[in-house]
Amino acid sequence: MDKIVIEGGKPLQGEISISGAKNAALPLITATLLTQGKHIIHNVPDLRDTRTMLALLETFGVHWERDGATLTINTENIAGFEASYDLVKTMRASVLVLGPLLSRMGRARVSMPGGCAIGARPIDYHLQGFKKMGVELDLDEGYVDAQVADGLNGCTVYFDIPSVTGTENVMMAAVKAKGTTVIKNAAREPEVGNLVDMLLAMGADIEGRDTDKLVIKGVKKLKPAEITTIPDRIETGTYLIAVGAAGGKVKLKNCNPSHLPSLLEKLREAGLSITETDDTLEVSRTGSLRSIDFKTLPYPGFPTDLQAQTMALMSMANGLSVIAETIFENRFMHVAELKRMGAKIRVDGHSAIVHGNGGLTGARVMATDLRASASLVVAGLAASGVTEISRIYHLERGYEDLVRKLDKLGARIKKIKEEK
Ligand code: EPZ
Repeated sequence: MDKIVIEGGKPLQGEISISGAKNAALPLITATLLTQGKHIIHNVPDLRDTRTMLALLETFGVHWERDGATLTINTENIAGFEASYDLVKTMRASVLVLGPLLSRMGRARVSMPGGCAIGARPIDYHLQGFKKMGVELDLDEGYVDAQVADGLNGCTVYFDIPSVTGTENVMMAAVKAKGTTVIKNAAREPEVGNLVDMLLAMGADIEGRDTDKLVIKGVKKLKPAEITTIPDRIETGTYLIAVGAAGGKVKLKNCNPSHLPSLLEKLREAGLSITETDDTLEVSRTGSLRSIDFKTLPYPGFPTDLQAQTMALMSMANGLSVIAETIFENRFMHVAELKRMGAKIRVDGHSAIVHGNGGLTGARVMATDLRASASLVVAGLAASGVTEISRIYHLERGYEDLVRKLDKLGARIKKIKEEK
């Protein structure tokens, strides 16, 4: 397995371009299953997860080709409807094929995703929605076996927690259902809005974009669409935080500052200077870092996907920072690794108290999940000495060209083959 080696302490300078959003591209790709024809999706990042999703669609008979960041996906003839355990266990977002397959084929057999490093990650809201739409669900040998004899019916569902993929899955099932579907307490993440835009371009009838109530009136026919993936707000936030940690001055292009309302406020409170236009962010940090408290919340609150990276930053600030993780039950896997670099962090249930001590020292650390590994990169960029991060396949799931982009900003970073 490859590893990343970083010699810390060098400020970042220059400019880089932000890639398309992983968590937008994945549902956009599965939405192509909803109808026959050639779909075009622009600004798709070339990541382990997007490659996995395309490989899954290939098992259904889908053909696709990539030209730079543009995907052409042909769903003219699809046959299969099973997502195997081997594929789903590597990427839980595979469950996003359930809604489209039920709509197109009336049938889907998808392995239950199982837990992951950050939590149990159940899909009960997804299944509750499908059941209300008339789907018969059996759970056998770890697979969700779903079928609906004479088409999906509209329904009203209420999500106790505004689930992102739950909202996306039920919405995709609803666009050609008989009647109207109302999703109450729907997720409002920008990635959900990007999917609404694609479905509208396909001819769907959806009201309530960016609100917590989506009303989807079933239509008879959809047509293939052309859509552009929104910029990745979590990649954007990760680079902003990296500059906060390592210092320097960086310009991020092709991003969308309006998708990071809470993070920008919190980073300014921590002492970063950030200027924005519609599609760029300029960030610098020259003075000392101030400790901040924050709590992860559904959008537009502080993103859970930036909690680990911000914790790494707070471990270098002056003072105490109290961090509450309200979305996932086990998203502090990065704490043990950061402590190996000298961070002073105490976890108490869903909260972590970070005693910022101004500096970290390089060490050999291990990535445990996608965003935890990003926090180790942030820490390594600022730490004195050398940091070696193993199991970087986690990183490659969600950050396109991370080593190249950081190298371009002057970081002393390289990827090396781990000796057997
Ligand atoms: C999406 O996951 C993202 N993944 C996650 O990003 C992100 O952390 C998460 O939303 C929260 O923003 C994709 O979009 C592919 P949820 P998702 O359903 O949809 C509970 C990354 O690093 N819940 O909004 O799986 C769940 O356990 C990844 O890019 C149920 O109880 O998250 C969690 O506590 C990590 N039952 C909370 O809701 C359900 O049926 C939010 O989960 C569904 C969810």
